[in-house]
Amino acid sequence: MKIISSIEELRDQLRGQLRTAFVPTMGNLHEGHLSLMRLARRHGDPVVASIFVNRLQFGPNEDFDKYPRSFQADVDKLEKEGVYVLFAPTEKDLYPEPQEYRVRPPDDLGNILEGEFRPGFFTGVTTVVLKLFSCVQPKVAVFGKKDYQQLMIIRNMSKQFALPTEIIAAETWRAEDGLALSSRNGYLTEAERAEAPVLYQTLNEVAQEVRDGNTNILEIERRAMEKLAKRQWNPDYVSIRKRDNLQAPSASDFAQNAELVVLTAAKLGNTRLIDNLEI
Ligand code: PAF
Repeated sequence: MKIISSIEELRDQLRGQLRTAFVPTMGNLHEGHLSLMRLARRHGDPVVASIFVNRLQFGPNEDFDKYPRSFQADVDKLEKEGVYVLFAPTEKDLYPEPQEYRVRPPDDLGNILEGEFRPGFFTGVTTVVLKLFSCVQPKVAVFGKKDYQQLMIIRNMSKQFALPTEIIAAETWRAEDGLALSSRNGYLTEAERAEAPVLYQTLNEVAQEVRDGNTNILEIERRAMEKLAKRQWNPDYVSIRKRDNLQAPSASDFAQNAELVVLTAAKLGNTRLIDNLEI
């Protein structure tokens, strides 16, 4: 595997490649990331991964400095997956001058759910993803459904800018007890790790109520938030939304059997976890 940090060298290395499959990451790779590499391999060749902890998507009080970095272990894992190029730019490589041009998602998608609690987060994400796409020029790029809203925003961006990159969605990878794999799980204490699967259990309970025909979503969401709070979680939201635009479903959406998803973000101790489940 070639490890490349400069944009110019990356372009030289990938010149003429027409079927590149790309997986952008922030490193600290776990089995979920590796499943994205395997899916990428099914959709293109060569597979290019990137590792870049993108300062633009972290708020001033978020965990940019302490975000887990494990470069050598990541390299070993990617080698084993047969990744052809790892693009690992420094901040100076990717942002040689302050990144003043940014991509701002529309408010009705970018400022809800995660965007409401992490102002500017999606602008940081779309800006770096567009830039990484411009460096790698992939035919396909793979993103996990674990970051459901991110996936939708990137898919819409790619469509609206007519980017020649098809966005592929990968299923969420879960531990045996149901906890969605995430680099931030490493922050959990032993006791918190034991409690963490309750988030996915709560999503399942919400989904079951909706499947059973309860359309009072505010009531279902309120009870789910209350349950989490009673167990010492600090939930930001539990929200039932339409899959196609992440807006709340109306009575007529229920009547037409609109496809739904329930999304959540909640803090356990100092660790903020997100998860979702298609209903
Ligand atoms: O999902 C992530 O790891 C990041 O948001 C991404 C897409 C690599 C952009 O920094």
